[in-house]
Amino acid sequence: MRAVDVIMHKRGGAELSREEVAFMIEGYTSGSLPEYQISAWLMAIFFQGMSPRETADLTDLMLHSGDVMNLGGLRGPNGRVGPFVDKHSTGGVGDKVSLILAPIVAACGIQVPMMSGRALGHTGGTLDKLESIPGYKTGLSEAQFRDFIAADGFAMTGQTAKIVPADKKLYALRDVTATVESIPLITASILSKKVAEGAEALVFDVKTGPGAFMKTLEDSEALARSLVDTGKAMGKRIVGVITDMSEPLGAMVGNFFEVEESLDCLEGKGPSDLMEVTMRLSAWMLVAGGLAATVEEGIAKCEAALATGKPRELFLANVKRQGGDVEKMLQLRGKFRSAHTRKLGAKDSGFITGIDAYKIGLAGVYLGVGRDKTTDPVYPDVGFIFHHKVGDAVKAGELIAEVYGKDEASLEAARGLIEDSLSIGQARLPARPLILKEITAL
Ligand code: URA
Repeated sequence: MRAVDVIMHKRGGAELSREEVAFMIEGYTSGSLPEYQISAWLMAIFFQGMSPRETADLTDLMLHSGDVMNLGGLRGPNGRVGPFVDKHSTGGVGDKVSLILAPIVAACGIQVPMMSGRALGHTGGTLDKLESIPGYKTGLSEAQFRDFIAADGFAMTGQTAKIVPADKKLYALRDVTATVESIPLITASILSKKVAEGAEALVFDVKTGPGAFMKTLEDSEALARSLVDTGKAMGKRIVGVITDMSEPLGAMVGNFFEVEESLDCLEGKGPSDLMEVTMRLSAWMLVAGGLAATVEEGIAKCEAALATGKPRELFLANVKRQGGDVEKMLQLRGKFRSAHTRKLGAKDSGFITGIDAYKIGLAGVYLGVGRDKTTDPVYPDVGFIFHHKVGDAVKAGELIAEVYGKDEASLEAARGLIEDSLSIGQARLPARPLILKEITAL
């Protein structure tokens, strides 16, 4: 087989055989094929797409480029094996759902093997949020990952170098060859990593809107369908939920700020938008794990669990188990704020018609919430606290948000974006639904 023939087949719109896809993936990961041929192949996929069968082959071949976690036989805190269910978000601003959802569903009897990512570009990262808790460690060994799931029903770790090494090389190449925004390539990249962590069912939160990776409902739906169909082809039970990401989720954006808001949610004091998305996704995890027959029953079970206080206890137990200082975390609540701060006030009286999540996320990179490059540092005590959200009536000069930056220069650099993110009109816009579409393969 020759790489040039495989490139030519894809360039002409042919469906590649599994052997052809394997030749390219194995050749690239072993170093026998050069980057220029893989780049050309990726661009051909970008324009011609891939059939569901090709996407499933690509995902499976990428998955087996590294280790696949075997959770078989692992007993959770209730003494039962599984069900192992995880949730993955395509990335948003103020999206701290994982921190709240994992202990809620664990309290209901789901085991959650959660492998998360870091902030990159305008979107936040679960690992950075957790590491803002003094002492918290996210680089768990496989043995710790298993032990912690057995103890609390969930554990939170990062992806090791051994999980889908093909994706690390391919993603870096896609980043510099303008081939990131391809549905089959995104599907294979996300799904291979999620399947490698050992879950038997997966719930995908596919964000849509200005603050999302996919800006239009049409593109988000195409990605959700591809994730669901490919996941099903790989023998997993899958749910894709498309949720709104036009304004930040909840009232807080920032690493420790989002830990604080997660604790509020676990104490029954969470903002309604964040709670609605969290409960819906949690409920789907129960359905996917066979612990609820319908999403409504799942929501009722999650609400009942939350009311017992058990999810908060499990969250604190997990913080302690992963090296975090629970006392210090609780003491820092409401106080862990950078000294470099500004207030964002309303320029006019009227109704808030938009808080652009993309601009807030980008401003967050200047402030020190997120990062441009994977090697940039992030800061725990910076970000935004919103006092108003879209739909609220405000008076000129009224406080909309507190902004915290790593230094004065960062606040100046972010100022234009923050001011531009806010729009005020004379009429209240109808509330946007948060849950836009649900696609299931159960
Ligand atoms: N996230 C991933 O992990 N991979 C992609 O290709 C895009 C987003």
